[in-house]
Amino acid sequence: MHLTLPAPAKVNLYLEVLGRRPDGFHALETIFQTLDLADEISVTVTAGSGVALQCIAPGVPADATNLAWRAAAAYLAERPLGHVDLTLIKRIPHGAGLGGGSSDAAAVLRALAQLDAQPLPAARLHAIAAELGSDVPFFLLGGTALAHGRGEVLTPLPPAPATSVTVLMPAAHLPTPAVFTALTDAERGPRPAQGRLLAERLATGHIPLFNRLTGPARRLCPAAAALLDHLATTGLPHLLSGSGASCFVLGEIEPPPGVRAYRTRFA
Ligand code: C5P
Repeated sequence: MHLTLPAPAKVNLYLEVLGRRPDGFHALETIFQTLDLADEISVTVTAGSGVALQCIAPGVPADATNLAWRAAAAYLAERPLGHVDLTLIKRIPHGAGLGGGSSDAAAVLRALAQLDAQPLPAARLHAIAAELGSDVPFFLLGGTALAHGRGEVLTPLPPAPATSVTVLMPAAHLPTPAVFTALTDAERGPRPAQGRLLAERLATGHIPLFNRLTGPARRLCPAAAALLDHLATTGLPHLLSGSGASCFVLGEIEPPPGVRAYRTRFA
């Protein structure tokens, strides 16, 4: 049995930190949006047991530390379908705030559920996804969604207006935990959620570009700060993507020196 699926990148059109939770995570209110920039993951199930991963990208681990591998192992722990071979073609830059690893994991779960004659129910798939990472459940849905909790409590939204996007990746990576840790007390909250107000603004065609992680990402990463300063001079709508270090622009733009550009669209 064999299936190949795209694993799309995401951006957060809005990301507010509502406070720190007792479990050490941060309560978020965020709007996720998938892009047509995507990794590709092939899943083959044969007789036997265990997981093997081949990763076509430099610097990405092809072992049990890779979230795609862990997703397959988590599914097999509940539904021992056989031996799972994964081939992952990476196109989404990592350390970018684009959710590449989370999306790969969700694509593995979706593929295994499709290949399984008695797939795990959607609620169980969602729970496994949430254990793998805060962003993983969103990638089971894709499209546009409002999220609360750690990012796993999802409300699907109507698609955002079709928009061309340039993702810009400076020569720097930002680890997500470091960015959350570097929030100041004032940035961290607590503050109330906006809830449906946000969804209503999006429904009227207004994309509410905001990212509370911009302050810490700027302080930790001079290359991201320089890129944001450059984008401010262009007059184009732009934002730090997730916890960075990439940024995205609504529209087409040439990258400044030392920055890689990915032309893509909301998908
Ligand atoms: O859930 P995930 O493994 O993607 O999160 C990576 C790290 O980002 C967490 O260990 C935590 O430091 C931070 N994080 C957070 N609050 C969230 C999501 C992530 O503090 N809602």
